[in-house]
Amino acid sequence: LHIDWSLAEAEKRGFPNYMLKEIHEQPQALRALIGDCLIKDEGDVLLEGLGLDDEALRSFDRLCLVACGSSWHAALIGKYLIEEQCRIPVDVEIASEFRYRNPIISETTLVIPISQSGETADTLAALREVKGRNRRVVSICNVIDSSIARESDGIIHTHAGLEIGVASTKAFTNQVVALYLLAIRLGRATGTISRNRGLEMIADLTELPDLVEKTLKLDFNAEEIACEHLTACDAIYLGRGICYPVALEGALKLKEISYVHADGYPAGEMKHGPIALIDRDMLVFVLAPRDRHLAKVRSNMEEVVTRGGRVIALCSEGDEETGKKAEFTLSIPWAGETLSPLLFNVALQLLAYNFAILKGKDVDQPRNLAKSVTVE
Ligand code: G6P
Repeated sequence: LHIDWSLAEAEKRGFPNYMLKEIHEQPQALRALIGDCLIKDEGDVLLEGLGLDDEALRSFDRLCLVACGSSWHAALIGKYLIEEQCRIPVDVEIASEFRYRNPIISETTLVIPISQSGETADTLAALREVKGRNRRVVSICNVIDSSIARESDGIIHTHAGLEIGVASTKAFTNQVVALYLLAIRLGRATGTISRNRGLEMIADLTELPDLVEKTLKLDFNAEEIACEHLTACDAIYLGRGICYPVALEGALKLKEISYVHADGYPAGEMKHGPIALIDRDMLVFVLAPRDRHLAKVRSNMEEVVTRGGRVIALCSEGDEETGKKAEFTLSIPWAGETLSPLLFNVALQLLAYNFAILKGKDVDQPRNLAKSVTVE
């Protein structure tokens, strides 16, 4: 028997690169995270590493999420979902700003660094700053023996497995779900999430891995879309509510691996600047799930179309109306208001991937970027 794969390629399990492999590993990574932490009868979850009982959880009146890069985007999604479900204020901080600002952290604030690698210098420094003041730190981390995991009082391990591609994909998805699990635990402890609501949230979560699988199998024309717009130099991603941070993450993915300039914007903020940029050369990705913001997002899309912008609309399955005036429409499965954005993000990962591959870029090791930034 002759195998002509190098060991490294063998680890790619037949995929042409790590990024595509890791994108496709998302369903199994999610199953590994959700695993057996669901307490289905109670509408609650077991987060053993947290090290905080119900009484301790009830003692906090604010959360502070600190991170960099994609992990910061996961934190922003976390803010939307935790504030909505748990009615507790959540601050989201970029670690490199937080650490130098002499931040105000009261005794009743729970600080949560989020990091795939657990070694990002600024996030680690932020953690040390907080620990130095004797405040409680629980990290959300993918590497269990990393500095951030070791130096925290508690940990939610994201269980995404080894992530090699520099641009985060499966680790990001699992960070968001870790925050979703934390929301359930916190809400159940404080009483803002009833048993019934907890049961609903768990039911939605249980379906998520299959829906990610379904999203990965959809025929998105991702290659055709990328081909059509290969000469575009600028892109803007628009989203509202919980889809705003997804827009940021979609834009980051595109710029990281294809070197196309891209920005994420809250759709409602477009009229305060970015609308001046709209013309035939501007690629506009519109995130339009059938949630409470749909009517507003549709009218933002109209504004772009009227000004000659080329729209790629991401809509919910079954919504035939919203994307009618777009150049391309992608139909994304529905996973509820809170989790659907993760499916939109999977579609954006595939789009960015196709752009980069068609441009001949190295998706695993983009120029000037590192998987783990251990310098300040
Ligand atoms: C680098 C990586 C990103 C990552 C960020 C934060 O910039 O290229 O993919 O999101 O660092 O890394 P961390 O390991 O702390 O999540």
